[in-house]
Amino acid sequence: MHVLLTAGPTYEPLDPVRFLGNRSTGKMGYALAEAFAAQGAEVTLVSGPSSLPDPASPRIRTVRVETAAEMFAAASAVAATADVWVFAAAVADYRPAHVASEKIKKSGETLTLELVKNVDIAGTLGQSKRPEQFAVGFALETTNELAHAQDKLRRKQFDLIVLNSLRDAGAGFGHDTNKVTVLDAAGQIVNFELQSKADVARGLVSLILARLTPTP
Ligand code: CTP
Ligand code: CA
Repeated sequence: MHVLLTAGPTYEPLDPVRFLGNRSTGKMGYALAEAFAAQGAEVTLVSGPSSLPDPASPRIRTVRVETAAEMFAAASAVAATADVWVFAAAVADYRPAHVASEKIKKSGETLTLELVKNVDIAGTLGQSKRPEQFAVGFALETTNELAHAQDKLRRKQFDLIVLNSLRDAGAGFGHDTNKVTVLDAAGQIVNFELQSKADVARGLVSLILARLTPTP
């Protein structure tokens, strides 16, 4: 089995020394890569800038990228041959419209940046998804969480969507623990306990594998 995993943030350059980024550390995505490899899968881990080292497992190939466009190119290159797609990356929705070739100098009291929309990696790949391929997305919502996650699942052709909780202390960006809820297209909901990201990853992987090979 071959798994394509996106992880970490993306950095969108503004000038040679600055970028727009986000607080994703890559921990959840890297834990998923390790958990899939532990089950014997071959993993292509397309990672945005993360301070985590490349996972040591020989089953994991780590491809380092910076921008959403680079992440899309790297993911597209392996998507057709992957059986499972997991989109754990926190992809920047927008990037600066112009990348200055020289460092932007301080001038007026205000500075307005023009941003343009980035490619939706999961949404675009979803359009070429084959019926036997299995896709998993992530979402973090602050209002109408279940409805918004359900809607994203449909729009991006996900088989499962993992909803990150914002309500629980110890969950989310930078923490070693996470609390998630998993939804499927039929509206079935699985609530995970607050636990280490490694345990969340193992639980998600066994849930995904069970969906791939349903017991009669
Ligand atoms: N995603 C992606 N490419 C993007 C944006 C998001 O692949 N340019 C993926 C994420 O990795 C995640 C899922 O899509 O698995 C949902 O991401 P999210 O940011 O919640 O969805 P958006 O469609 O960007 O909606 P919004 O940020 O407005 O809630
Ligand atoms: Ca987004």
